[in-house]
Amino acid sequence: MDIKPAISSLDTIVSLAKRRGFIFPSSEIYGGLSSCYDYGPLGAQLKRNIKDAWWREMVQKRQNIVGLDASIIMHPRVWEASGHVAGFTDPLVECKKCGARLRQDHLPEGGVKCSKDGKLCEFGEPRMFNLMFRTHLGPLEDTSSLVYLRPETAQGIFVNFGNVIDSTRVKLPFGIAQQGKSFRNEITTRHFTFRTCEFEQMEMEFFCEPGTELEWFEYWKTERLNWFTNLGVTPERLRLRPHAADELAHYSNACVDVEYLFPNGWSELEGIASRTDYDLKKHSEYSGKKLLWKDQQTGAAFTPYVIEPALGTDRALLTFLIDAYKEEEIEGNPRTVLSFHPRIAPIKAAVFPLLKKDGQPEKAQEIFATLSDRYQAVYDDSGSIGRRYRRQDEVGTPVCITVDHQTMEDQTVTLRDRDSLEQVRVKIEALSGTLFEKFGF
Ligand code: GAP
Repeated sequence: MDIKPAISSLDTIVSLAKRRGFIFPSSEIYGGLSSCYDYGPLGAQLKRNIKDAWWREMVQKRQNIVGLDASIIMHPRVWEASGHVAGFTDPLVECKKCGARLRQDHLPEGGVKCSKDGKLCEFGEPRMFNLMFRTHLGPLEDTSSLVYLRPETAQGIFVNFGNVIDSTRVKLPFGIAQQGKSFRNEITTRHFTFRTCEFEQMEMEFFCEPGTELEWFEYWKTERLNWFTNLGVTPERLRLRPHAADELAHYSNACVDVEYLFPNGWSELEGIASRTDYDLKKHSEYSGKKLLWKDQQTGAAFTPYVIEPALGTDRALLTFLIDAYKEEEIEGNPRTVLSFHPRIAPIKAAVFPLLKKDGQPEKAQEIFATLSDRYQAVYDDSGSIGRRYRRQDEVGTPVCITVDHQTMEDQTVTLRDRDSLEQVRVKIEALSGTLFEKFGF
């Protein structure tokens, strides 16, 4: 089947995101800051819902995975042990004429137009550029105070391995999950929030017995793919791309990217890596503290192997936004709709009084108050009912609830389903049950 991206150009989403308050350029009143973005009211809620959905699936529902929230600034030795100080680099090239700096492996075929003379840029030899942001802890700015902003959340998990097994009752195989900001001084940022310098990650390290890791690797491939499709991402726009042998890190014995068909083509959404015992062994070596699992029965101590599903929160959000976007025609009228899965939809329900009189606004406010105690809902009494529906469709609200003159007589309201457009009347007393049954909230 010839599957196409959900939208042909990212501009469609960039403009909707700005117009409806999902994502704004950062510091816009000062002209913006390259590659930095702010999440607006709906974006902040959407991001929160995506993080909650991940945490629910990866931590809350599982007895063998626990959560963690490590600090962003860690001991600098962490990054020496992990290999980031020596090797977390990208090849940087600079044009000899205009000074443009680009990532060598991101150069487009056919070259880059030089801003100096309009011909092609002439790049010198690449030099390796370390992507970690550096700063200083405390008032002294010398090498003794040098620290880094973490470029991944994973190392916070490895260095807390001992603390977690000492303070919980986890048994191998088990996982430690965390969400949080990471920072990379990317040479080329591109495609809206796809690649930025400040971003969030949701990572889980799943520790298992050596020799079982490739079974768990297969398990996590399926689990992670299912997470996206269960939250409504079109299965045909997702694929697994195994890394070729020459792409694998020297310590890794398997790695796959979950890729999504973005408007610019297939690109990495999440990485799933089998990292062997590399990280725990390195931290044992550099810290002098043994990071081992002790088998209670046999007394044998060994370094577990690890499988790591690592997802970028912002990239996941961009994927959900793109994949949910639809332009349709309903009875001759165009509509733009974001068909978010109800679990991640920023606004779950909108409550409308049909008229601003006869007690309808008060009744609608009462319903809003009940629903908003449980999740994000909105109350809207401005404009025609058709306009109010369209406003909610465009931000992906799964259901609109209308109070009208009949409500005042028989205590029923109309539920209008965003996707099927079906309208049903339900008793107010049955509203919560019906919403839960139909939408899961
Ligand atoms: N601990 C492993 C690790 O960090 P990674 O492939 O470098 O692996 C994992 O990053 C995920 O984090 C990526 O699949 C992507 O979703 C997200 N990510 C990485 N760099 C990013 C950036 N500069 N901007 C936005 N998201 C990024």
